[in-house]
Amino acid sequence: MRLDQYLATCTGLSRKEAKKAIIGRRVQVSGELCRSANTPVAEATLVELDGSVLSLPNEIYLMMNKPEGVISATTDSNQPTAVDLLPTDMASKVHIAGRLDKDTTGLLLLTSDGKWSHQVTSPRRDCPKTYQVQLAEPLSSDARKQLENGVLLKGENKPTRPAIVVNCSETKIELTIHEGRYHQVKRMLAAVGNHVEGLHRVRVGAITLDPILEPGQYRELTEEEVRSILNPV
Ligand code: URA
Repeated sequence: MRLDQYLATCTGLSRKEAKKAIIGRRVQVSGELCRSANTPVAEATLVELDGSVLSLPNEIYLMMNKPEGVISATTDSNQPTAVDLLPTDMASKVHIAGRLDKDTTGLLLLTSDGKWSHQVTSPRRDCPKTYQVQLAEPLSSDARKQLENGVLLKGENKPTRPAIVVNCSETKIELTIHEGRYHQVKRMLAAVGNHVEGLHRVRVGAITLDPILEPGQYRELTEEEVRSILNPV
């Protein structure tokens, strides 16, 4: 990680403030004054700001391949939840960043960092989400255009934002949406006269579901994946 990023992550300073601190001779790396913001820093490198040693925050960031039949909740006395699939010490610290329906599978993000999950779910951040959608009927070209232009969902008066549709087969599409309305994908397809028979999320922002994860398995996000949500390209 670059020194200015490291400083920002440890302290909550903005990148601009971090650069200013570096240029202002307030930062030491491995005991030496460092005035170059792009100096590479490893996790074990000793970095000091105004003489205080910095450490990376201990937040948890995970991706899970959510299996069918578990709900996106931290606890539920009656039904198995995605958080129940984690070891208890981790489960008590995390919440879900962007829910999936019980019958939807695929990429679920879990974290202990409330600010980070807000960036994933906030409508103002425009974090795109991509779903593989198994359809009951082939998608007509008219229905495809409607999805691409925006459709009116039942009971709402504001059309959805334009979506990206990629045809995978006659009855399978990849749909990228820029919002997270309630049951959005299922309702979008219903609005164009089709029906979702299977839904699998493969991408959130720049984070792609790791193909090594079997349903129910999870792994920690890399630093790059965590940062991609904060600094989208
Ligand atoms: N849209 C849906 O309809 N369901 C999900 O689980 C996610 C998006």
